[in-house]
Amino acid sequence: MTASDDGTVALVGCGRMARALVRGLIAAGHAPERLTGVSRTGRGARALAGEYGIRPAATLAEAVRDATTVVLAVHPDETADALAELAASATPRHLLLSLVASWRTEAIAARLPGVLVVRAVPNVAIAERDGVTVLADTSDGAALDSVRGLFAGLGQVLVLDEDLLEAVSALSGAGPALVARFAEALASAGRAQGVPAGTADLLAARAVRGTGALLAGGATPAAVIDSVASPGGMTEAALRRLDEGGLPESVRQGVDAAVRLSFGRLATA
Ligand SMILES: NC(=O)c1ccc[n+]([C@@H]2O[C@H](COP(=O)([O-])OP(=O)(O)OC[C@H]3O[C@@H](n4cnc5c(N)ncnc54)[C@H](OP(=O)(O)O)[C@@H]3O)[C@@H](O)[C@H]2O)c1
Repeated sequence: MTASDDGTVALVGCGRMARALVRGLIAAGHAPERLTGVSRTGRGARALAGEYGIRPAATLAEAVRDATTVVLAVHPDETADALAELAASATPRHLLLSLVASWRTEAIAARLPGVLVVRAVPNVAIAERDGVTVLADTSDGAALDSVRGLFAGLGQVLVLDEDLLEAVSALSGAGPALVARFAEALASAGRAQGVPAGTADLLAARAVRGTGALLAGGATPAAVIDSVASPGGMTEAALRRLDEGGLPESVRQGVDAAVRLSFGRLATA
């Protein structure tokens, strides 16, 4: 088996993450007509149909009827209802790929007897085919291979112990938002120094993008810092102030808050 062999993928939930996935898959050559989406109100599915040409489904049963891979991309609090509905339509020929935070593989599988389940934590950079997707090691090997194939064109794929996936969700799933917050703060600081708004935004975005390229090229964060900060120079003064202001500790506390939230609503079998 590989559930995505015929390329038919149903999206249950058509919000932010489904949008990133659709955009990445289509950019990677996936045919839009092989993607179907359903959302609670129908708005999200119609929006993805209008923008990307996927097939909108009126009901969850219709969405999964011809699909082999079913991607669950609903909010954690919406997951119990979606699974109850899905249980009436999902069969052992489906592979359920859950992107839902805080729902362990066994919790999903217990509600869909006979259906193979893979849990994944992607991030929105898959939209640009430059994301990272972490798969839980608890899944069936062939199912993991199938999902690895689906995400292969969307960036890097890792398989990790499922016990780490709440931390991974905070670090990597939320990661683009955390980095974007820094870009926002950098641009705002530039504006405060009199740099025109559009230019400050551009310079901050290029700083993030350029640093990403250096890191992707193999440089460590410490090496990037060292390549910029000369002793007694401007960069060193700025970094010292960031550290004194508690930036590393704030980031640690931010990730910790996200992980606590995720564990607080953890669904197990
Ligand atoms: N966003 C990220 O960067 C990210 C990263 C990693 C993991 N995730 C995970 O991905 C999941 C989705 O996140 P999101 O940010 O995409 O959420 P979102 O933007 O709130 O989208 C949720 C979607 O689910 C739909 N929905 C809710 N109940 C449904 C049901 N019973 N049947 C069909 N559709 C239903 C909603 O439809 P309506 O709009 O019509 O209500 C909406 O389209 C979450 O569990 C999150 O933990 C997200």
